[in-house]
Amino acid sequence: TSLKPYNTFGIDVKAKHFVSVHSIQDLKEVLSLENHPNKLILGGGSNMLLTQDFNGLVIKVELKGIEVLLEDSDFVTVKVQGGEVWHDLVLWSIKNDYGGLENLSLIPGNVGTAPIQNIGAYGVELKDSFESCEAISVETQELHTFSKEDCRFGYRNSIFKQEAKGKFIITSVNFKLTKRNHKLHIQYGAIASELEKEGIKTPSIQAISKAVISIRESKLPNPKEIGNCGSFFKNPIILKSQYQTLLENFEDIPSYPVSDDEVKVPAGWLIEKAGFKGKTFGNYGVHKNQALVLVNYGGAKGDEVLNLSKLIQKTVNRIFNISIEAEVNIL
Ligand code: EPU
Repeated sequence: TSLKPYNTFGIDVKAKHFVSVHSIQDLKEVLSLENHPNKLILGGGSNMLLTQDFNGLVIKVELKGIEVLLEDSDFVTVKVQGGEVWHDLVLWSIKNDYGGLENLSLIPGNVGTAPIQNIGAYGVELKDSFESCEAISVETQELHTFSKEDCRFGYRNSIFKQEAKGKFIITSVNFKLTKRNHKLHIQYGAIASELEKEGIKTPSIQAISKAVISIRESKLPNPKEIGNCGSFFKNPIILKSQYQTLLENFEDIPSYPVSDDEVKVPAGWLIEKAGFKGKTFGNYGVHKNQALVLVNYGGAKGDEVLNLSKLIQKTVNRIFNISIEAEVNIL
């Protein structure tokens, strides 16, 4: 089976075996297949770079459903199955006027993989509305509940990228959303200017979602048209002292506060300054509107993209003495 339709980078590698699972029961059965020791779990395939054929069983999680568990006049708790498409959930919440996910509009991927890297955009992270999730142990096939604390969310990070990596499949996620007095996050520059452009002074969650969609559409390539995985790298966190030194040579280097002695620097800026923005190498390259995004124009090999990412890391390190880490999983 070709995995090309199942990864947003559009890389054409093959899997020896492939199965879609639509229920927890099916998932348990498939996980216990001892004749397939080598298994790869696939959600939306929006955060992985495939560099070789997979000599094992690919399991595509297709658990579907959105269910209201609890509600009062202020909040609603919804349980969402892991195979739901993230943006479909956002659209559902917007339609029902449930607040909390609007800034996370149009992020590619599925609900069940969103907690792994604590997806975030425009001043909001998944953790802000996350309540708990259920996950099945790959080894024992038992279901476990992870509270928000259990997940240890951080910037593009959670327990599922650390000690629980590869050990669990998230089958459903519970979110707590607001029914009124929505907490709006419009401080992010791009959102504020988009709302202003539209002449909106008291934005609704619908207006915020619309603004986010239009910002993303203008900056980020649509994976249906150009293969990509969103940000290829994480924004590096560096010491303030190093940042001060960098300012001496690069006076316009941007930064965001992180802690008393650390700041975050946009990797897109570093990559742009290193001369890579918009560069193409045959059928792959660096996106012209956002240097943090590597793109496959069609037919690129995973290895080629990987080598480009290494060249970018090396060059950024040479110029700025900052190492930037891939955000995408390399397989
Ligand atoms: N910048 C440049 N050149 C570029 C890109 C960015 O100079 O080519 C600088 C500019 O100074 C700009 C700043 O970086 O003001 C921030 O850019 P942007 O608002 O596009 O955000 P980002 O830091 O590059 C992060 C997330 C995105 C998320 C946006 C908006 C990471 C790794 N990426 O990007 O997430 O949508 O913020 O909140 O944290 C993703 O993870 O796939 C993703 C797209």
